[in-house]
Amino acid sequence: MARQNIYDNEAFFEDFREKRTSEINFNDCIETPILFSMLPDLRGKDVLDIGCGMGQHTRKFAEMGAASVLGIDISEKMLAWAVEHNSAEAVTYRRMAMEDMDALEERFDVIISSLAFDYAEDFEGLLRSIHRLGREKAALVFSMSHPLATAWTGQYTRYTWSDARERLYANLSHYTVEGLRKVSWVVDGYECYHRMFSSLINALVQAGFVIEECRESTMSDEMRAKYPETFGGTLHRPDFIFFRCGWAG
Ligand SMILES: C[S@@+](CC[C@H](N)C(=O)[O-])C[C@H]1O[C@@H](n2cnc3c(N)ncnc32)[C@H](O)[C@@H]1O
Repeated sequence: MARQNIYDNEAFFEDFREKRTSEINFNDCIETPILFSMLPDLRGKDVLDIGCGMGQHTRKFAEMGAASVLGIDISEKMLAWAVEHNSAEAVTYRRMAMEDMDALEERFDVIISSLAFDYAEDFEGLLRSIHRLGREKAALVFSMSHPLATAWTGQYTRYTWSDARERLYANLSHYTVEGLRKVSWVVDGYECYHRMFSSLINALVQAGFVIEECRESTMSDEMRAKYPETFGGTLHRPDFIFFRCGWAG
């Protein structure tokens, strides 16, 4: 099974690190506030953070009162940053691919993932693994790139621009063609997986989850007006999709 580890590519890591630690970025301004607003009370809970990256969220979950937080990630560079900058007493970082989570002996009350499921070739299998890792009454809260964003094949520009450099439309093609997207994004050969909205829903239900909330990212007019180059596209389509799920039965 394919498991690209692009965050250990020097150029890709540096670009991501720079964006993720800058003041105005998609994670902090769009994704994180929505994800955190969907979390249950973490006090006293055992939490798993899948694709924890540089550990910003992982440490925050500990600060929110989690009894333990295990952050797993495939990237050595991301984890090295996490250990250096986002360590805390309740936090453990472990290098592990999400495809290998069946090997985990721990069980969790809350399983969280922020923008890592884009990289799962076998989304159904991933959800089955997650389902096994949850204790009774567990919660799964995750974000991923929105299907309207992952449809992009790299063969056309994402937006149609006016002469005055305003984004007029979000372009869309090949939405119904699911599977691998191999595109030039920061580096050549960046890989992620596209799934239609219905496939996400059906995979969750079939794996034994109850969908309690689904959200799509939006951005305020104020922020769009202040940072048109960065956030202008948020008018036309959501960048991220979010689910909060419980365990069925
Ligand atoms: C967009 S980053 C998000 C990181 C972090 N959750 C955050 O909010 O900043 C995606 C992360 O998923 C990790 N990742 C990609 N494929 C993975 C895999 N197969 N198993 C585990 N982690 C993976 C990457 O190494 C990267 O750290």
